[in-house]
Amino acid sequence: MSVNDSRAWWRDAAIYQVYVRSFADGTGDGVGDLAGIRANLAHLRELGVDAIWFNPWYPSPMADAGYDVSDFRDIDPAFGTLAEAEALIADAHALGLRVIIDVVPNHCSAAHPWFREALAAGPGSAARELFWFRPGRGRNGDEPPNNWRSIFGGPAWTRVEDGEWYLHLFAPEQPDLNWTNPKVREEFEDILRFWFNRGVDGVRIDSAGLVSKDPSLADFDPARPPVPHPFDDRDEVHEIYQGWRAVADGYPDPRVLIGEIWLPDVERFMLYLRADEMHTAFNFDFLGCAWDAGALVGVIDATLAAHAPVRAPATWVLSNHDVIRHVTRYGRADTTFTHQHRQHAAPSDRALGTRRARAAALLYLALPGSAYIYQGEELGLWEVEDIPENLLQDPIFRRTHGAERGRDGCRVPLPWSGSQPPFGFSPPGSRAPWLPQPARWRDFSVAAQCGDPASMLELYRAALRLRRTEPALGDGAMAWLPAPEGVLAFARAPGFACLANLCGRLPTDTAVWLRTA
Ligand code: NOJ
Repeated sequence: MSVNDSRAWWRDAAIYQVYVRSFADGTGDGVGDLAGIRANLAHLRELGVDAIWFNPWYPSPMADAGYDVSDFRDIDPAFGTLAEAEALIADAHALGLRVIIDVVPNHCSAAHPWFREALAAGPGSAARELFWFRPGRGRNGDEPPNNWRSIFGGPAWTRVEDGEWYLHLFAPEQPDLNWTNPKVREEFEDILRFWFNRGVDGVRIDSAGLVSKDPSLADFDPARPPVPHPFDDRDEVHEIYQGWRAVADGYPDPRVLIGEIWLPDVERFMLYLRADEMHTAFNFDFLGCAWDAGALVGVIDATLAAHAPVRAPATWVLSNHDVIRHVTRYGRADTTFTHQHRQHAAPSDRALGTRRARAAALLYLALPGSAYIYQGEELGLWEVEDIPENLLQDPIFRRTHGAERGRDGCRVPLPWSGSQPPFGFSPPGSRAPWLPQPARWRDFSVAAQCGDPASMLELYRAALRLRRTEPALGDGAMAWLPAPEGVLAFARAPGFACLANLCGRLPTDTAVWLRTA
């Protein structure tokens, strides 16, 4: 298969995101696990997806739900064992499902042996060179080395016992790795081989644009960051991922690199998708776009125009484990999303949001490229905004002293069946799910929706089935059709059209697929 070969599976795959803690609990401890996933793979096959992306499943103290990895080559005991992961990969492959795992290069856990060693070895040691340790400022070195702020709130530096400070762009339990150190680079290429050798078909690269830092670690004004930015989207990152691409291409069935890159500048974004780098990256402009015909046309056109020169496929994504679920977003007066403006608890009309989510499903699954489905969106689940504060787990909640609720509301365990929590998420007699499920989810379980032609689940199933069989869908070109204001209409050859009506006049917020020949 050649680079960016049009027959490459990932160019038009429908990829289902499994948030491991919340998909299905096979062992009864109230936390999702690999046993639960293995027992429910049939759901994914029937849904009609082509691949599964698993959020981090590695051993972790879970300070950031597994994005604080203490061993990149094993499975957290709460989720299962390495042997189970291998069996899961084999099960998925037997059902024709590809497997993508999350790799987290920007940081590891403070419990990772490298960081423990760095703490023990002390200032000036080679072990500290794997991270960003610095003396503090101020008279006794008791002020952080610079003014950088953590993305989760608070300073980006924590002081250790001997007086040095270390950098963490996220939680203090997630020390940033120093990618100028060749040992870090070798280690991650080896981690990739470890999983690729076990049959993993691709990796989702966490916080991919953040890994390189300006070694001067100078202060900057966050309202007017310098160019290049001290830690975001620096030119040095590209060489790292070119190295990863060489590893991925070293396999007879090349493995896929998928970037998590939040960048407002499309031209900079596309640099990651050059032929010798990543294969695809999440389209967060589309995710954050208002439910508005003009705005959507603008994002779709800009996406396709930017991807064309590098011949990378576009991706389409509505939700994931970091954002407010789109049923809730689309029911609000302001339907946009940014991390800075999450609008927690802003009033949301669920019926309206659901109608729009149905239309959005037909719209995004008809666009050229690959599409992501975040677990539960196929059930029409909404953001759970009333989780009691003492149960919230996201470090964002505590790091911002409650000013931000964080992301738990989109991570609530899935409802599978039955009329009471845990709705089949765990076997009978288990511990309560790690986050409470709304009672109303009894009507939104897989079992409740299965066979109901009006349900979100059956809509996704029908659309994904057609997506697989219609030659016009997936990778390829699209052409806008003349349409009244507020209506998106486009053709896909051969003989297919998608119409989405957002004009405000009935039947507004609906979409249809048409066979035109
Ligand atoms: C992005 C992940 O999607 C998010 O869940 C995580 O908290 C941060 N990266 C840090 O790893």
